[in-house]
Amino acid sequence: MSSSLPHSVLVVGSGGREHALVKALAASPTKPRLLCAPGNAGIAQDASCFPVAADNIAGLVAIAQREKVEFVVVGPEVPLSLGLVDALGKAGIPAYGPKADGARLEASKIFTKQLLLKHNIPTAPAAFFTETAPALDYVRQRGAPIVIKADGLAAGKGVIVAMTLTEAEAAVRDMLEGGRFGASGRQILVEDCLAGEETSLLVIVSGRDYVILPVSQDHKRVGDGDTGPNTGGMGAYSPADVVTPGMLVRIEREIVRPSVDAIAAEGIDFRGTLFIGIMLTAAGPSVLEYNTRFGDPETQVVLPRLASDVLALLWAATRGELGGFRLEVRPDYAVCVVIAAKGYPNSYPKGDVISFPPSSNLPPSTFIYHAGTARNAAGQFTTNGGRVLGVTALGPTLHEAAARAYRACDQIGCATKYFRRDIGARQLNRK
Ligand code: AMP
Ligand code: GLY
Repeated sequence: MSSSLPHSVLVVGSGGREHALVKALAASPTKPRLLCAPGNAGIAQDASCFPVAADNIAGLVAIAQREKVEFVVVGPEVPLSLGLVDALGKAGIPAYGPKADGARLEASKIFTKQLLLKHNIPTAPAAFFTETAPALDYVRQRGAPIVIKADGLAAGKGVIVAMTLTEAEAAVRDMLEGGRFGASGRQILVEDCLAGEETSLLVIVSGRDYVILPVSQDHKRVGDGDTGPNTGGMGAYSPADVVTPGMLVRIEREIVRPSVDAIAAEGIDFRGTLFIGIMLTAAGPSVLEYNTRFGDPETQVVLPRLASDVLALLWAATRGELGGFRLEVRPDYAVCVVIAAKGYPNSYPKGDVISFPPSSNLPPSTFIYHAGTARNAAGQFTTNGGRVLGVTALGPTLHEAAARAYRACDQIGCATKYFRRDIGARQLNRK
């Protein structure tokens, strides 16, 4: 490393992703002082937490200054799109994550689709609308299945994969006339529906340099067998063997390199995570979306597999020193099972007591990441969100990693816990 690593790091966010980031940073040989805002009850065991919301830009800058933080790592997309990294930069505090111009790649699906089309990066054909009538004409002309997307941020809910024309027409009206997703849905994309398996690629980008992290696969639907409504993600595993070494070479050549070059060519100095959602179609890999941050729960399976110092990696990207970074990856498989509150992604109870087994009773190589947790007056852990915990286990095989994760899930007590029983099953059944 050409510049010495920071001794204090503030992580912004409060989910399982941020807990995994905090744990990975804690493992750095430099042993940095760790802070988090706002964090959660589990993160509070590993970092000093400050009750400043992740979208309170002035408040976050003030905490970073007051605590003399040397580095900030931003978890969620909202502060990125609100310009947190720009504001910290003005205050002289280096931060990992794109500035607001780069965060547009997630905050505007139309901006991204235009960039993809302009630079000939494979993606589904699409058209953009602000008026209902031409949108409905286009939908009818293309036919179902078809995908309707709100342009702006919608916490992962702004995409409707319509299987019928009726469903598609309703989605168009809901967004453009019904105010569903508010300002985010005032402009929409209508795009062709792609078929295939999805994969999540997290790429650490610094200008024209990049490092591709191990490939993972998310489970977006709430129910076993990919049924029920979409969620933020109910579990993940890595590596995703559906991305063969040959396919990864192709993805790098056709998607990663061209994306990084296109972003730079648009004048964006992107330093942060480019999360590329990819559909592996019969015709080849195709970009579904960019996110400009780590995935949740992908991070909870990718970071535990890294043998490299994550602090050094994120710092190098922020400093523009990523060229030549050699990533070391453990050969283990990782599985993360998300424990949610029953009812998620719709309404769910909060405040249920969670009991954990003593860590000596947990299966080997198991990590419990907290997401929506708090403490009650008696000091007990309680549920405080839809996704409550991410239970990750490593193992020499995917089967063993999943078995360990599920043994740990069964040991966690919580009256309203709900989790999918089939995380990783697609790959296990393929074998
Ligand atoms: P996005 O936020 O754009 O990734 O969309 C969320 C989810 O909707 C994706 O993970 C896919 O499962 C699905 N999706 C998005 N675009 C398409 C598409 N063109 N064809 C099929 N499914 C899609
Ligand atoms: N797991 C998908 C996401 O983080 O957007």
